[in-house]
Amino acid sequence: MTGKSPRESEAILADLMMPSQANGLRSPSIFGGVVMSMVDKCAALSAMKHSGGQATTLSVERILFKEPILVGELVEIRSHVAHVGRTSMSVVADVYAEDLRTGNRRHTNACWLTFVHLGDDGKPAPVPPLVLETEADHRLHQIAARRREQQLADRH
Ligand SMILES: CC(C)(COP(=O)(O)OP(=O)(O)OC[C@H]1O[C@@H](n2cnc3c(N)ncnc32)[C@H](O)[C@@H]1OP(=O)(O)O)[C@@H](O)C(=O)NCCC(=O)NCCS
Repeated sequence: MTGKSPRESEAILADLMMPSQANGLRSPSIFGGVVMSMVDKCAALSAMKHSGGQATTLSVERILFKEPILVGELVEIRSHVAHVGRTSMSVVADVYAEDLRTGNRRHTNACWLTFVHLGDDGKPAPVPPLVLETEADHRLHQIAARRREQQLADRH
């Protein structure tokens, strides 16, 4: 199977945050579940691009909410595959919120998810190797490998 670089699985998902997506806090910000759903969708696109087929979410290891996102802000998610096993793919996703009046852009969420490629029979199927090209590719690959080891050790 021909390898693919992390660039080939890059996915971007953007949406304008509307009042109906706010939470019930006194100073409303965007409901966390809205962000989680967008992250899952964007990361799934990365897994589908790398595997060239279906991919299902195995786990969401981390979604760190560093800062609230406000109604009226533009949310942009960027993701790519950072590590692959035989059938699984670790995806890193970053969330940015932009105030369109000022152009101020903030990194609001850092996320790690794992997907499994499913073949036409619906069963886990092998994915292409990941071709690491840059220093950043190697650094994220190492982080993902450590996370995967921990995940496998915690498996029950
Ligand atoms: C994802 C799923 C197909 C995996 O099934 P499975 O029987 O565990 O499959 P396998 O044992 O062949 O494992 C597949 C891969 O997942 C990894 N994996 C499975 N369970 C794991 C766990 N608990 N922790 C870490 N990795 C795990 C395996 O290591 C393997 O990766 P590898 O091939 O890269 O080494 C199955 O758990 C499933 O269908 N889950 C529901 C998915 C879902 O509904 N998602 C939400 C909607 S998209």
